[in-house]
Amino acid sequence: MIDIKNATKKFGSTLSLDDVSLTFNTNDYVALMGPNGAGKTTLIRLILGYYHPTNGEVLIYGMNAIKHRLKVLEHISFVPQLPPPIKLSLDELMSYVCASAHIKREEIVHFAKEMELDLEPNLSKSFFKLSGGMKQKMLIAISLAKKSEIIIYDEPTANLDPKARDNFYRLLKQNENGKISLFVTHRLDEIKEIVNRQIFMDLGKVVSDEKI
Ligand SMILES: Nc1ncnc2c1ncn2[C@@H]1O[C@H](COP(=O)(O)OP(=O)(O)OP(=O)(O)O)[C@@H](O)[C@H]1O
Ligand SMILES: [Mg+2]
Repeated sequence: MIDIKNATKKFGSTLSLDDVSLTFNTNDYVALMGPNGAGKTTLIRLILGYYHPTNGEVLIYGMNAIKHRLKVLEHISFVPQLPPPIKLSLDELMSYVCASAHIKREEIVHFAKEMELDLEPNLSKSFFKLSGGMKQKMLIAISLAKKSEIIIYDEPTANLDPKARDNFYRLLKQNENGKISLFVTHRLDEIKEIVNRQIFMDLGKVVSDEKI
């Protein structure tokens, strides 16, 4: 369970999140929507313990997202809006995530294949030299291989071509129940088959939250 209690985040005079309270339970599959600058990524970064809230707190299975960050992150698969500038080769990256997050390499290879990312010829290539879509496919493959209880995707399809998008949604539909998923998206039509709750944010606040 994710419990966001009166979370406020300010950057200088910018109020990015304004007293947001939300609870996500098992089997909540959420489309998180809203205009640019609404605070969606900020909310996700609070859940990941990446930002300290200015006020309020975020609990994941009862653990504070900041104080117990490493423990909390064990439960979460996350694909960011912009891929990080990882300098490791794909081979090194796989070794690293397998060792640090108890992921099986063959699972990454499996999901990369499902995403039509050709790993073999790119194993010695740096992650940051991949194309935008290839990076996204690699991060998606790792996220699916991790098999976490909480899955968070911040606009994961922005760089994907239509075929890759179809592959991604097909894989998500195969996901077993009993999880919490948050999808930041501007296109509800693409994910409406895999979400059951829609949250709309604007100006740092939740303006609607409904079952769909
Ligand atoms: N690290 C930061 N430093 C300063 N301001 C920030 C920072 N992160 C976010 N903000 C500000 O917080 C507000 C919300 O940004 P956020 O990235 O959460 O929006 P978003 O809803 O994810 O938008 P988009 O759809 O464009 O991704 C914006 O005004 C942004 O400039
Ligand atoms: Mg964002």
